[in-house]
Amino acid sequence: MTTPRPTPEDRFSFGLWTVGWQARDPFGDATRAPLDPVEAVHRLAELGAYGVTFHDDDLFPFGAPAPVRDKRVAAFRAALDATGLVVPMATTNLFTHPVFKDGGFTANDRGVRRFALRKILRNIDLAAELGARTYVFWGGREGSESDAAKDVRVALDRYKEGLDFLCGYVREQGYDLRFALEPKPNEPRGDILLPTVGHALAFIERLEHAEMVGVNPEVGHEQMAGLNVTHGVAQALWSGKLFHIDLNGQHGPRYDQDLVFGHGDLKSAFFLVDLLEHGGYQGPRHFDYKPLRTEDADGVWVSAAANMRTYLLLRERARAFRADPEVRAALAAAGAADLARPTLEPGETAAQLALEEFDPDAAAARGCGYERLDQLAIEHLLGAR
Ligand code: GCO
Ligand code: MN
Ligand code: MN
Repeated sequence: MTTPRPTPEDRFSFGLWTVGWQARDPFGDATRAPLDPVEAVHRLAELGAYGVTFHDDDLFPFGAPAPVRDKRVAAFRAALDATGLVVPMATTNLFTHPVFKDGGFTANDRGVRRFALRKILRNIDLAAELGARTYVFWGGREGSESDAAKDVRVALDRYKEGLDFLCGYVREQGYDLRFALEPKPNEPRGDILLPTVGHALAFIERLEHAEMVGVNPEVGHEQMAGLNVTHGVAQALWSGKLFHIDLNGQHGPRYDQDLVFGHGDLKSAFFLVDLLEHGGYQGPRHFDYKPLRTEDADGVWVSAAANMRTYLLLRERARAFRADPEVRAALAAAGAADLARPTLEPGETAAQLALEEFDPDAAAARGCGYERLDQLAIEHLLGAR
């Protein structure tokens, strides 16, 4: 089999915090040295990525004085210019510093909420300057461990207030920037607000500038909640709200594993790639994973390449699946096209519908043919076709 090679046209992007993760976890110290963002940009470009994303604190330390900040940003920008890598998305770190232990948008402490908004505003300016089109909000600390601690309805009022304010700011400044909310059910908080794609989509509809706000689903986050990520992403697409996506791997409901894309539930990854490639998603294919803690610096780049290669292999497999005449025949036999037909004729009334003759027992006796389809998918996934 030929080796697919990533190119910028594939629109692969990585967070600085992914390849730069030093592998500090709740039980152990870092196993890797810090990675300079400039080196990350060069290495990612060499591997065929097109984009790099960042939290403010990935580029310069929290509270860095202006000269330090400016120097770091200038070096990062020079690396982007030298490599042609772009910044499609940026985001704010509202979780590492202890001041955010009770959240940013929804901390009970009003001073913390105002501080969080200032931190976001500052980084939105930088994101716009660097040409980012999407600004992500992952509310890892927006939540609680005890239902006595936080009135969720009031917290959602504050979440909405903050996002409405920030949308207003982006509009005033004339930035070409949209927001994407990233759901996650838990970790680091016991329970995080907006835990799933569905919760986020419902919340967005209550925002003042709902049209500016979409979602950034993460594969592992939906799977941590025991959900089918492909269904969540499909609903986001259907709602016109798939503004960005975080690809990675996860084995079911447990801690956030952040494995390489496809290294968790591979079958689900296949159907997700099939959906993204055939469902009209045009945005970046962004990897939000963590190189295993066991790896050294070389292993980090092996894992970065693995994300892209796995995606490309799955894309090939998904294309072959869609093009296979046997799959087409099986889809037709399973009545896939019939679902695309409106249930009612234009203008049909309840009275007309009531007149129709139908044999429920005959319909019930007909097999759906989904086993055949599922096996065809598996055979394509395994490269057996
Ligand atoms: C996580 C999240 C984060 C966010 C990132 C961008 O579980 O830690 O996935 O990696 O994606 O903060 O907002
Ligand atoms: Mn995650
Ligand atoms: Mn993420």
